[in-house]
Amino acid sequence: MLNKINFWKSSRKTVSIDERIEQVLKLPIPKHIAIIMDGNGRWAKKRALPRIAGHHEGMRIVRKITMLANRLNIDTLTLYAFSTENWKRPKHEVDYLMGLPEEFLGNFLPELIEENVKVCMIGNNNRIPEHTRRAVEKAIVETSANTGLKLNFALNYGGRAEILDAVKEISKDVKNGNLDISDINDEAFSNYLMTHFLSDPDLLIRTSGELRISNFMLWQIAYSELWFTDVLWPDFTEAHLIEAVEAYQRRSRRYGGIHSEESKK
Ligand code: FPP
Repeated sequence: MLNKINFWKSSRKTVSIDERIEQVLKLPIPKHIAIIMDGNGRWAKKRALPRIAGHHEGMRIVRKITMLANRLNIDTLTLYAFSTENWKRPKHEVDYLMGLPEEFLGNFLPELIEENVKVCMIGNNNRIPEHTRRAVEKAIVETSANTGLKLNFALNYGGRAEILDAVKEISKDVKNGNLDISDINDEAFSNYLMTHFLSDPDLLIRTSGELRISNFMLWQIAYSELWFTDVLWPDFTEAHLIEAVEAYQRRSRRYGGIHSEESKK
């Protein structure tokens, strides 16, 4: 019996991350991946640690996943770092979360510059503390000429607020005579959103087993492929991102239509 198990173990080919990367790069890669990074609190609780320890570990994962996304030639990685609803959390947790972009960029901005990553942000600047705003602004300026992965932080971001702001701006333009109602279509509307400079996500990932969207990119994910995992964000590894991309590559995206072969039948 032992021999059988040993034979099975030795005959099982372990595929390295590098080999898997090589394989996924042979097929179409999602241009834009958006991630709802959930489960930091539960990760900490399981270890009898304060919730902020989970957020800190989550930040380490952000670095790892950013580097892999860049290596996979993904155009945009949008990370839901703080929602418009997260202000409801205890002040010390909010303060800690608002300190993370500064800590992350303080540590990794040189690496992001070196790796040609371009930092971007979506969200409303109004409530974001000055020190956080300055750190993000500095990173945006210093990486503005970079042409690799766009690392887009969603900070104080909410999908409904974004849509309402767009509606207000469109209404103003119609009222001023700068826009004709008949010209309002998908493309025109998208141009009023905070993501006007990005393509829509091809793949949306949510960690931690929750099966909801939580007010994230409501307009933009209309045709995104969804991938949910029970893995808590601080446990999310490079292998998980590759697994999600592999799953994406097996999907058939029809955008409400049918396959071209089927249309010939
Ligand atoms: C949700 O988990 C997570 C957040 C609200 C914050 C996510 C932030 C990070 C992963 C770090 C961001 C890093 C940078 C560089 C900005 P939760 O706290 O709701 O977890 P729970 O559902 O288990 O309680």
